[in-house]
Amino acid sequence: MNNIFVFDHPLIQHKMTYLRDKNTKTKEFRELLSEVAMLMAYEVTRDLPLKEIEIETPIGTAKSKVISGKKLCIVPVLRAGLGMVDGMQNLIPSVKIGHIGLYRDHDTLNPVEYYSKFPEDISEREVIILEPMIATGGSLSAAVDIIKRKGVKLIKIMSILAARSGIEKLASEHPDVEIYCANIDEKLNEHGYIDPGLGDAGDRLFGTK
Ligand code: URA
Repeated sequence: MNNIFVFDHPLIQHKMTYLRDKNTKTKEFRELLSEVAMLMAYEVTRDLPLKEIEIETPIGTAKSKVISGKKLCIVPVLRAGLGMVDGMQNLIPSVKIGHIGLYRDHDTLNPVEYYSKFPEDISEREVIILEPMIATGGSLSAAVDIIKRKGVKLIKIMSILAARSGIEKLASEHPDVEIYCANIDEKLNEHGYIDPGLGDAGDRLFGTK
């Protein structure tokens, strides 16, 4: 699948090990997730267009580059996606932020949108969806559908850990969307958790279990 990118950077791989470790406590988990998001942001934004402007340095005049054209919006999927917002904002302080909340209907197992709020001009922005875990890929695929319906043309997904079946389903349903993650695991267990994975990212981030 040519729209899946797996980060092999040693700093990211090192931090992934401690995110997976069950002995890592909430504070450290939160810091690690934020750091991994920041390191990933560096690469995910590599293709942002630049334009040249002229500025005065203390010595003379310089032509130098600033980001131009398409502006960014990040959309964390509630609630674990919130743990990746800080890291992105550290690198891109002016980024606009939307939110999506989805739950899985007990009977149909389909994702249901319970909350969404986006910047008014989202259709003119490149959107990066933040969701640390790609398990079945079902709710992320629904999140992409919701954002596409808003008229957004360029969408990327930033995740940290994916189940192979989930990421492949997502990539085939949305071949126009680039998907970035740090590790791919081969299995989902009977409860839909990635195996060996890292557990419930939301619980580990917010200390709810
Ligand atoms: N969501 C999580 O937080 N963990 C998983 O393993 C799968 C989905």
